[in-house]
Amino acid sequence: MKKIFFLLIIMLLVISCAYENQNDLFNEISCDTLDVQFERDILPIFAYNCQSCHGGPSPSVYLSLETYDQIIERIDAPGISGILNRIERNEGDILLMPQGYKLQNCEINKIKSWINQGYMNN
Ligand code: HEC
Repeated sequence: MKKIFFLLIIMLLVISCAYENQNDLFNEISCDTLDVQFERDILPIFAYNCQSCHGGPSPSVYLSLETYDQIIERIDAPGISGILNRIERNEGDILLMPQGYKLQNCEINKIKSWINQGYMNN
């Protein structure tokens, strides 16, 4: 009896872990990189992750990322002044943006896809 109980607990643990992985997998699969719009999908990424520093009346390093024009001016600029250059760096890289963490894969892929589609102001 005790053995069965023990086995049940192990099974529950395994199932809950598997479920978590499926969720991650689901997020990757459900990441829509084809239907990407600036206002709806791209601007919010900058609003949540960048504008606390790169926004307002005195933005970090005088770089404001609040409008379409400001964002496309830097999106694929060469070297470390480029947005893409900064967000694709490895975790732990001091030049990674936002400072201290990396955007989710889905967010980076959406930005890249928006660029490849001609970074439309839609
Ligand atoms: C916590 C504050 C903070 C956040 C959040 C932040 N940045 Fe920055 N960013 C800085 C600082 C400070 C610098 C200057 C130091 C450096 O170049 O690493 C900088 C520099 C940059 C530069 C280079 C500017 C230049 O003229 O060379 C880019 C591009 C940039 N950030 C993009 C972003 C993007 C895109 C996001 C959001 C995904 C973001 N940053 C989020 C603080 C921040």
